[in-house]
Amino acid sequence: MDKLIIQGSCKLQGTVKVSSAKNATLPILVAALLCPYPVKFESVPDLLDVTTILKLLQSLGVKVTKDGDGVVIDATTLENQHADYTLVKTMRASVLVLGPLLARFGIASVSLPGGCAIGTRPVDIHLMGMEKLGGEIQIENGYIKAKSGRLQGTTITLPFPSVGATENLMMAAALAEGVTIIENAAMEPEIDDLGDFLAEQGIQIEGAGTSRITIHGKKVNELKSSNKTYHIIGDRIEAATYIIGGLMSEGEVKVTGFNPKHLGFVLETLTKMGADLEIGTDYVKTKISKRLKGVAIETAPYPGFPTDVQAQMMALMSIVDGNSIVSETIFENRFMHVPEMGRMGAKVNIKGNSALVEGVEGLSGAPVMCTDLRASAALVLCALVAKGESEIQRVYHLDRGYEKIDEKLTGLGAKIQRVKG
Ligand code: UD1
Repeated sequence: MDKLIIQGSCKLQGTVKVSSAKNATLPILVAALLCPYPVKFESVPDLLDVTTILKLLQSLGVKVTKDGDGVVIDATTLENQHADYTLVKTMRASVLVLGPLLARFGIASVSLPGGCAIGTRPVDIHLMGMEKLGGEIQIENGYIKAKSGRLQGTTITLPFPSVGATENLMMAAALAEGVTIIENAAMEPEIDDLGDFLAEQGIQIEGAGTSRITIHGKKVNELKSSNKTYHIIGDRIEAATYIIGGLMSEGEVKVTGFNPKHLGFVLETLTKMGADLEIGTDYVKTKISKRLKGVAIETAPYPGFPTDVQAQMMALMSIVDGNSIVSETIFENRFMHVPEMGRMGAKVNIKGNSALVEGVEGLSGAPVMCTDLRASAALVLCALVAKGESEIQRVYHLDRGYEKIDEKLTGLGAKIQRVKG
């Protein structure tokens, strides 16, 4: 298992470009399952989660051709509709193959993803929606066994705006007969991007990125290749991580390649803390500002404060003036970075789903262990500004969602060494 050795007391300076959004790449690559022709993508990020989804598609018989950061997905060779536990258990987003497989082939057997480090994360909303579309669902031996005739468009009201359920149902509805309306849909920018991808295949779709999405289904042979190479949006979560790194290290960091509007709430919160930010159309630059002050945040579905930036934000809060409060409302058990940050001198007290963060003067380097993707990012940020050396273990969590993070941070002046193991 690789580890990172980070020398602290670093001031990040310079420009860093974010990669394509992991959370848009995964559903959009899966959506190529709907297409009876090869689909080309460019700037596909080199991430462990992307490798996993490509392996899963290949396990279904899909032809995957890579050329640099370009990928061609050809689902015309798909020969089985069975997504095996061995792959699904490693990444929850694998369950996204359910919708397209069921819609296109009328049959799917997809392993239940099971628990993960940040909570139990059930898929009941995905299954309720598939049943509403006419799917017959059974849970057998740890697998979702689904079958149907042609899915039938309908209105589905989600009890909670689940990102994954919205995406799964959008893909299923794309090949359903008639119109499907998803009410209380998740509104994340990655959903808008999936909507754009489906529209490019000839699906009429309205409201992706709002709470009401209307999808006019087509037969599979009515989908049309635009022959264009699809370009996925920039990663707002990666961007937030580097912006927070710039602020924590009191450096001037320009983060490019994404739409700052996708980070509205995060940028507002940072400004409220006293950050001086230059916000362009496709970049944010941190300016050297006085010591920031504490704030209260509560995670919420988009456009609220993203749970995926909660840990990085807590890293910042640990070294600002005064106290901060973090309430995590999306996932249970998403404070696993807290004990590790504590080893670096952060003062955080957890009570239920809230954490009280008492700002300290500075952190000190320590050996720490990654537990999940965003928790790992928070530990890296702490290590960059801590006094002395830190050893970050189990960085495979980080590699799931941050492309070349060590190289990108080195480009900003950080002293990071990856030790292969
Ligand atoms: C996606 C993101 C993840 C992000 C999360 C919330 C991807 C690949 N992952 O995950 O990075 O943290 O959105 O913004 O895009 N839930 C149910 N039943 C369901 C579905 C969800 O109870 O059927 C619950 C989950 O347990 C969780 C909450 O709803 O507590 C949010 O889940 P959801 O929005 O579905 O997140 P994901 O799609 O898994």
